[in-house]
Amino acid sequence: MKGIILHGGHGTRLRPLTHTGPKQLLPIGNKPMSQYALEDFKEAGITDIGIIIGDVYPEKVKGFYGDGSKFGVKITYIYQDKPAGISHAIRLCKDFIGNDRFVVYLGDNILRKGLVDYTKKFQNSSAEAMILLCEVDDPTRFGVAELDGTKIKKIIEKPKNPPSNLAVIGIYFLTPKIFDIIDKLKPSWRGELEITDALDLLMNSGNTIEHDTVTGWWKDTGTPEDILHANQLVLDSIGTPNQFVISHDSEVRGNIVIGKNTTISRDSFVTGPAIIGDNCTIGPAVRLGPYASVGNNVTLKKCDIENSIIMEGAKIDAKIHLVDSIIAHQSEIEDHTHPKKHQFLLGERSQIRL
Ligand code: DAU
Repeated sequence: MKGIILHGGHGTRLRPLTHTGPKQLLPIGNKPMSQYALEDFKEAGITDIGIIIGDVYPEKVKGFYGDGSKFGVKITYIYQDKPAGISHAIRLCKDFIGNDRFVVYLGDNILRKGLVDYTKKFQNSSAEAMILLCEVDDPTRFGVAELDGTKIKKIIEKPKNPPSNLAVIGIYFLTPKIFDIIDKLKPSWRGELEITDALDLLMNSGNTIEHDTVTGWWKDTGTPEDILHANQLVLDSIGTPNQFVISHDSEVRGNIVIGKNTTISRDSFVTGPAIIGDNCTIGPAVRLGPYASVGNNVTLKKCDIENSIIMEGAKIDAKIHLVDSIIAHQSEIEDHTHPKKHQFLLGERSQIRL
């Protein structure tokens, strides 16, 4: 079996974070979200992986994953010139797939349980496709499956009046039969070749689509709130403290992973779950966590931070209490000498709540 990770699209709902890179490289628990897909593939024995790259900094994707060897997989890059839909992206992979069965993983989806069991099930099945369903509160945001008993009756993209609360998650088990089906598709109301239309047509052409239900959690990280929620879910299952330097007047509590050469000092307090990268300076007087992910080379002083993601190289040296925040690479927040004045240098679509 082969794997495909979708790494294209424009990530408009995540601007300004996606002005400088693809959304799938945004860190969750200090790891790019698409790395969870790659690791799920590897764990399921799928090491021949195609990555669809689009026009938002594709060189950053290649720079991070390279030829895949440092992750123990083989990567082929497939270029999509515009985000014309998930089915459009899949169609571009026809030569790469050849006669193999394959799995498509949307690079902004994270699945707690991984793919091992589902992959075995599909390998042993004669179905032309298998989809995974998950009960959700707001099915209008997703592709939705309507069941007739245990069989799938219909698959619809983001219905206004959903026939069920069963979202079709962004992991699709397919065979090369899907390519001829995609050739028959017309763009949807949002101008895309939809995966849901391809699956529905595959089924209506007399083919069997199996389904399974997701156990554990699944997350589509389309919005900043989704990213913070995914970060919480990932941090809920991290390990216990490892090597780090902590001064006698500071304390860490709960499940915390801390990188090399990171110091926590002078009246600082870290509450897990939290993850802190390498070469960070935490202190003086920092309160960090719970649910904080702090990238490499970050400096934090005097601040109180909870339920937030602070990316690599950021510096916060200010008496502020940050909650539910995402601070991108190399950003800086400092106290101003004049307490009533603020000075900002903000990218397009930045958000500040004072
Ligand atoms: O997350 C599950 C949902 O994903 C499904 O329930 C929907 O049926 C499916 O259409 C999809 O909906 P979204 O609206 O969330 O898809 P989005 O446009 O966000 O794209 C999903 C991923 O695929 C994202 O990582 C970007 C990538 N992508 C998307 C398009 C349209 C591409 O690489 N190329 C594309 O042309």
